[in-house]
Amino acid sequence: MSLDDDVERVLYSQEQIATRVREMGEQISRDYAGRHPLLVTVLKGAFIYMADLCRVLTVDCDIDFMAVSSYGNAAHSSGIVRIVKDLETPLEGRDVLIVEDVLDSGLTLKYLTRNLMSRGANSLEISALLLKNPAPAVTPRYVGFECPNEFVVGYGLDYAERYRNLPYIGVLKKSVYEG
Ligand code: PRP
Repeated sequence: MSLDDDVERVLYSQEQIATRVREMGEQISRDYAGRHPLLVTVLKGAFIYMADLCRVLTVDCDIDFMAVSSYGNAAHSSGIVRIVKDLETPLEGRDVLIVEDVLDSGLTLKYLTRNLMSRGANSLEISALLLKNPAPAVTPRYVGFECPNEFVVGYGLDYAERYRNLPYIGVLKKSVYEG
């Protein structure tokens, strides 16, 4: 049995993701030309997207990481967020770009946007690889793919901490999570 056997269908292939991430990187590089943005990733799901995106950027940037835990059940975030690992970088005057894997309700990033702006950031934008919900609570400046509302795994995204290392994004078979 391989991880692939648990995937019902591939939504975005490794090549499609690489092409889209390159396009997003070009747009972000144009928009931030002459500036020195701070890329912030919310662990863990976005770690692969961050690694690929930062390597196609042509602007000088810094990188930092946060970890949050969201109260509520696993399927729906409540918007009440506890910071488990905070940034090490002072935000005063910085142009912050949040690099996120999935934007669903947007409640996690709504909380974080407020929190980070209150630290004196000059600007804050969001780059989301997947937009699951057409009307999230925050508006991302950059979106990779508008994604169907299905259980997606791979390219950093997990089910019970597994499947993050799949190189593509796919829909998980129902039998895996419904037992
Ligand atoms: C996902 C994703 C966002 C959040 C989005 O993280 O990375 O942080 O959920 O949901 P929202 O827009 O409805 O608030 P998850 O809780 O799966 O953790 P992980 O990144 O560690 O896998």
